[in-house]
Amino acid sequence: MDELITILNKASYEYYVLDNPTITDQEYDDYYSELIRLEGEYPELKRDDSPTVRVGGEVMSKFEKVAHQTPMLSFDDVFNKEEIVSFDERVKKTVSNPIYTVEPKMDGLSGSLIYQNGLLVRAATRGNGTEGEDITANAKTIKSIPLKLTENIDIEVRGEIYMSKASFEKANKEREEEGENLFANPRNAAAGSIRQLDSKITARRNLDYMAYSIPNAKTYGIKTQEEVLTFLKKLGFKTNYKLNAIAHNTNEIMEVIDRLSIIRKDLPYEIDGVVLKVNSIDEEEELGYTARVPRWGIAYKFPAEEVLTVLKEIKFTVGRTGKITPNAIFSPVHVAGSLVSKATLHNEDYCIAKDIRIGDTVSIRKAGDVIPEVVRVLKERRTGNEKKFVMIDKCPICHTDIIRKELESDYYCPNKLCPARKLENIIHFASREAMNIDGMGEAVIEDLYNEGFITDITDIYNIESYKDELILLEGYGQKKIENLRLAIEKSKSNSLEKLLFGLGIRNVGAKMAKVLSKYYKNIDNLIKAPKEELISIPDVGDIIANSIVEYFHDEENINIINKLKKLGVNTVYIQDSHYEENEDFKNKTFVLTGTLVNTTRDEASSIIESLGGKVSSSVSSKTSCVIVGDNPGSKYDKAIKLNIPIWEEEEFLEKIKQSKANI
Ligand code: IVH
Repeated sequence: MDELITILNKASYEYYVLDNPTITDQEYDDYYSELIRLEGEYPELKRDDSPTVRVGGEVMSKFEKVAHQTPMLSFDDVFNKEEIVSFDERVKKTVSNPIYTVEPKMDGLSGSLIYQNGLLVRAATRGNGTEGEDITANAKTIKSIPLKLTENIDIEVRGEIYMSKASFEKANKEREEEGENLFANPRNAAAGSIRQLDSKITARRNLDYMAYSIPNAKTYGIKTQEEVLTFLKKLGFKTNYKLNAIAHNTNEIMEVIDRLSIIRKDLPYEIDGVVLKVNSIDEEEELGYTARVPRWGIAYKFPAEEVLTVLKEIKFTVGRTGKITPNAIFSPVHVAGSLVSKATLHNEDYCIAKDIRIGDTVSIRKAGDVIPEVVRVLKERRTGNEKKFVMIDKCPICHTDIIRKELESDYYCPNKLCPARKLENIIHFASREAMNIDGMGEAVIEDLYNEGFITDITDIYNIESYKDELILLEGYGQKKIENLRLAIEKSKSNSLEKLLFGLGIRNVGAKMAKVLSKYYKNIDNLIKAPKEELISIPDVGDIIANSIVEYFHDEENINIINKLKKLGVNTVYIQDSHYEENEDFKNKTFVLTGTLVNTTRDEASSIIESLGGKVSSSVSSKTSCVIVGDNPGSKYDKAIKLNIPIWEEEEFLEKIKQSKANI
């Protein structure tokens, strides 16, 4: 058994870490089966570093919290050469001739690994930096994480848990076939996969690990970051040894950045920038930390990726309010980790201002790394055959004359029965922020609508009556339909605000829906509410009050609500029992800025509201507190100027924890 473990672990190391296999898959499988057989026969001899551990199997009910021995921080982000130069100048105030390591910034999530006597005993996520989650069982399934080091030492290693581009494509292909929501990018896929309570699922996702730091490196006689990386490699870890570089000045740093930004698209994994670290550990210690981040390093983030493509068509769509939007349809291109083929062109004025023409070469990027947008038109590439933009004058779906109100830039289809508007209404109703019906995305709703199974939102709940026909449709298996049925059933018990938002009352967004639900407790009270009463509620103005009254005056809308009630849809506000109103939050106004690492803005906002606080989008003297994530924007600067209390994400999470809320 010892011999087999040696052979198998060596083969696995050569395959997964060195990317250089030395035995065939068949040989590996034969040795592996033999080991399994022996472990079955002699379970008492099964070793902790046996490769058979990697298949997973442990199913947990929750992740235990673990405290980090040293805080797991992250670097401040910078976005251009000037900021790198000022970082270098700051460093030089403390150390005279700094040398830097320049490492690709792996786009995943950081993970800490603890080894005792050379054996992996614990793995944890970063969490809030002080406390993470115990993901040991899941980490053991990651083939590039050694279960046993080449030396029998006690050590903590940190690095990035990530998903390769190939595994990401594969995972999404499988999800598509299963009718599940696709991962937006490899980072989300990695984060979702490492947080699986069933480690067998993690094992199937083929995660990877790139090691890059040792918290107490000096203990091992290490003097530089360069030596840290060499030592990690020697211990059996995957490091980026072919790409990590040394730079003696900012010009050399920029050269590495330029080189990496060119080859990044050909790498087997996503990188989102470059990490700069002062090489000498003594100097690192001298530089130390600010209250928030290390002074000895910084993360440079690549600008949002821009990709060129050809605009093939401008397609007009009709939203649920009747709003007409021109959309650019282009040859599909990969941008920031996903394939995109369309982007909004907003409205007529936007198209005219940009002089967008069909046949133009355009550059696309993902705004905020999520929504694709056309950045510019490459006019110099025009051949003369491009077709100028012409605004339509009839609804593309129901052919009613469209109207543009004075001072507005959008056109509307005024026909309330326009099929496009009805379809969009249903899509909105099922969407995440509204009734959150899993598996009922745009494509599925379009199918159901086109087949005539659903014509309005109430039909969603009649799935029993169309499910036998649905199964005959291509792409609808038993499992997919059953999942859909369960998700529809689950949505019946949503709290009132989800339903209210889902109904699509003009000017009632998700936040307003929550305000109204909290105030009126059930939909009948709201239906009866006179305008004067509505206006007396904080945050409800004249326009919103009018929209609400108008909506409930329409008999057709009341019919729909009554039908929903009959079908078992809840119309009562359910106070989130996780949270109790809390002094840190109650009656205070919060502004969120930057990217939150451990939660989403939506989630953070709804927790703040459940704790009695309010969330606003802009900073003013009335703001009680600004919560900052990574790369905070101008709101952060404004908060400093106005002397408004600032909470780092960690502090925010801590306050939530004290109030017994759970993220
Ligand atoms: S060193 C004090 N090295 O990027 C933080 N981080 O802020 C030291 N990352 O959250 C981290 N590749 O998850 C380091 N080669 C690398 C990295 C890297 C990716 C991530 C890490 C951290 C963020 C940097």
